[in-house]
Amino acid sequence: MTSGGDAPGMNAAIRSVARVAIDLGMEVLGIRRGFLGLTEGQFELLDSRSVSGIIRQGGTMLGTARSRFFRTEEGQRLALQRLRDRQVDGLVVIGGDGSLHGAQALHRLGFPVIGVPATIDNDISGTLMAIGVDTALNTAVEAIDRIKDTASAHNRAFVVEVMGRNSGYLALMAAMASGAELALVPEIDVPLERVLTEMRNSYARGKTHFIVVVAEGARIKAKDLADYISQDGHSDRYEARLTVLGHVQRGGSPSAFDRILATRMGAAAVERLKQGFSAEMVVLRDGDMWGIPLEEVLSTPRTLDPRLYGLSNILAT
Ligand code: F6P
Repeated sequence: MTSGGDAPGMNAAIRSVARVAIDLGMEVLGIRRGFLGLTEGQFELLDSRSVSGIIRQGGTMLGTARSRFFRTEEGQRLALQRLRDRQVDGLVVIGGDGSLHGAQALHRLGFPVIGVPATIDNDISGTLMAIGVDTALNTAVEAIDRIKDTASAHNRAFVVEVMGRNSGYLALMAAMASGAELALVPEIDVPLERVLTEMRNSYARGKTHFIVVVAEGARIKAKDLADYISQDGHSDRYEARLTVLGHVQRGGSPSAFDRILATRMGAAAVERLKQGFSAEMVVLRDGDMWGIPLEEVLSTPRTLDPRLYGLSNILAT
C-alpha cells in the first residue's frame, strides 16, 4: 500500500515489493488508495507484468489517500478484518509519518507490518533519506536556478516557498544546492530584520539578486516576507517577488537515486516480513538497508543539523 502524500519513487518501491515477493514465491495484493482503500477492501492482484514500466513514473499506481476513518478504532478493526478476509499474511506500508503511525496501529492489533519511508519532507528519523526527497530537491533546485536568472536581470529579491511541512530539510538543502542567499526553516529562528540586513549586505557586496528559500513551516511566512521586503521603502532596488513551488515538487519522474533507494527499500521490506519481523521501518544507514523499530522512529523527532545551516550561510556570501 502507498499512503499519505505521494512521493516520486513510490512506484519503484511497489515494483520492487511485488517482484521480490513473487520471486520468493508469495502472492502479492496491492491495496488501492491507502488505508481508506483498505477499509473499503480495495485489493488488486499484482503480478510481475502489472508493475511493468512504472519505475520511471511519479505518483503511485495504487493511488493514495489520507483517511480520517482509519484513525478511529472502528476503522482500524475494519482494516484488520479486510486483511484477514483476504488471508493476507503481511503488509508493506509505503508512506510518511502518518502512514507509519497507521502501520504501527495495525501491528498493535497483531498484524505483521513493515514500513517504507516515502515523503518529500525528509522528516522521518532513523534513515538518511526517505523516498522522494532527492527528486523533490532536484525539482526545487532547478526552479530556483531559473528564478535566479530573472532575479538577476531585474536586481530583484525573490522569496521562494518550498514544501516540507514542519521540516526545513528541503528548504535548507535547496538553498544550499542552488546557492540561495538565505534559508528560513522552522528549526532555526531568524528575526525578520536580519533578512533585510542580509539583503542589504548582499547588494552591497555587488550581488544582483537576493533569493530567500522559505520552508512552508517556517515562522515567517513566505508571503509576509515578500510583502515586508517590498514595503521597505526601497521599492526600486528591493522589489520582491514571491514564488510558491507547491505540488510541482511532488510530481515528476523519480531521480536515479530515488529509484534505487525505493528498489532497495522495497526489497528489504519484503525480506524483513519473510523473516518474521514486524513493526519495523526499513532505513538507509551507513550505505546499507536495515530495519529499526517503528516505535523508535515515531518517538524520535528528526533534527536539522545546524552546521549545515551555518555552512549554507557561509557559502552564500
Ligand atoms: O508531506 C508531503 C507534503 O507535500 C508536505 O510537504 C505538504 O505540507 C503536504 O504534503 C501537502 O499536502 P496536500 O497534498 O494534502 O495538500
